[in-house]
Amino acid sequence: MEKLRIMSVFGTRPEAIKMAPLVKELASRDEIESLCCVTAQHREMLDSVMEVFDLKADCDLDIMTPRQTLSTITSKCLLGMDDAIEQLKPDMILVHGDTSTTFAGALSAFYHKVPVGHVEAGLRTYDKYSPFPEEMNRKLVTAIADLYFCPTKNNRENLLKEGVTEGLFITGNTVIDALKTTVRKDYRFTTELLNELDYSRKVVLVTCHRRENYGQPMENIMTALRDIALQNEDCELVYPVHLSPVVRENAQKFLAGTPRVHLIDPLSADEMHNLMARCYMVMTDSGGLQEEAPALGKPVLVMRKETERPEAVAAGTVKLCGVEYDDVLRMGNELLRSREAYDAMAHAVNPYGDGHACARIADAILWHFGCRSERPADFNA
Ligand code: UD1
Ligand code: UDP
Repeated sequence: MEKLRIMSVFGTRPEAIKMAPLVKELASRDEIESLCCVTAQHREMLDSVMEVFDLKADCDLDIMTPRQTLSTITSKCLLGMDDAIEQLKPDMILVHGDTSTTFAGALSAFYHKVPVGHVEAGLRTYDKYSPFPEEMNRKLVTAIADLYFCPTKNNRENLLKEGVTEGLFITGNTVIDALKTTVRKDYRFTTELLNELDYSRKVVLVTCHRRENYGQPMENIMTALRDIALQNEDCELVYPVHLSPVVRENAQKFLAGTPRVHLIDPLSADEMHNLMARCYMVMTDSGGLQEEAPALGKPVLVMRKETERPEAVAAGTVKLCGVEYDDVLRMGNELLRSREAYDAMAHAVNPYGDGHACARIADAILWHFGCRSERPADFNA
């Protein structure tokens, strides 16, 4: 029997980290030929993930140029995908989450009448412009997809409310599968600063990159971070700065030279996960970190006005601190200074997965194509 050709499409760092274990799981199934098409919407940051997880692309669209507009990214991905689909002839295309690569990958699959599986489906803020453009990308992909791999029950509820009734699976988030392969007690960093850091001090892991935070919100966040470092002599802020020129300019302008602030280049996924496992707390606007840090028992302050990931907020390990200077400073200081506030948030919770999301997704795909008689059981957090 001919193998099912399942093509995973991704292009940015977080998609790659979350799709890597799935590409491998699919490859381990006898009935499946696991194909990998990267748009390279990110270049260096994608290549780093490919190396950590030992992945090889069957097709690389190589679309990244500095400071691309959303229209440029989307149109380049669409054009490149035409060739990828002609060449690799997939039976199904898998896209992940909510990036421009995700939307273009799904739209292109639709143009070629190839069914689409949406990994990390059903996340919503219900604010069209926040996160921007991700919330719209999610909704557009929902309209196109055939199979929906929802990390949580709540994500499935969101889709049911929108009238999606078929092809829904609750799988857990593949990021937890990835995390299980990277975090090790005896891990030695290649970034020497991270070996030298005194982890008995309060190491705050910081990231900030979202488009909707460009401008005043990012300035507020960065100045609040600066003042947190200045006002707390027992802390160290470690900030691996995203390669986006807008983000780098802001980090340089507001944070460079501040005592106890370490601006470093992006970390490889294994370095990042092991730093997270050792840090005191996390301050971020990232989506992925909101899922990883709770699993590692680290409190998270989310520097955004809303989140599409309410599960860890409900479990008490994540708090929204908004994007105003006063709020970020106050909530950052509180977690650093009040043992009570810290202890209330510092416990490991895993609403996002049990490390078996990829196996469930592979089983669901095989069931969909009639290669399994039983529908996989849902993940129940
Ligand atoms: C993209 C996604 C966002 C995701 C984020 C993860 C969209 C619209 N945005 O945002 O959903 O949260 O990735 O990080 O899809 N750059 C490099 N090298 C790299 C990566 C980026 O130089 O390896 C620079 C380039 O100048 C690039 C810029 O960063 O143009 C921004 O990258 P882009 O993919 O457009 O947006 P992100 O803000 O990274
Ligand atoms: N990450 C990484 N190195 C870094 C910063 C982040 O490997 O220097 C990882 C992080 O652990 C998570 C993912 O990248 O798995 C999140 O990516 P990002 O914050 O860029 O995007 P988002 O999740 O917000 O879409």
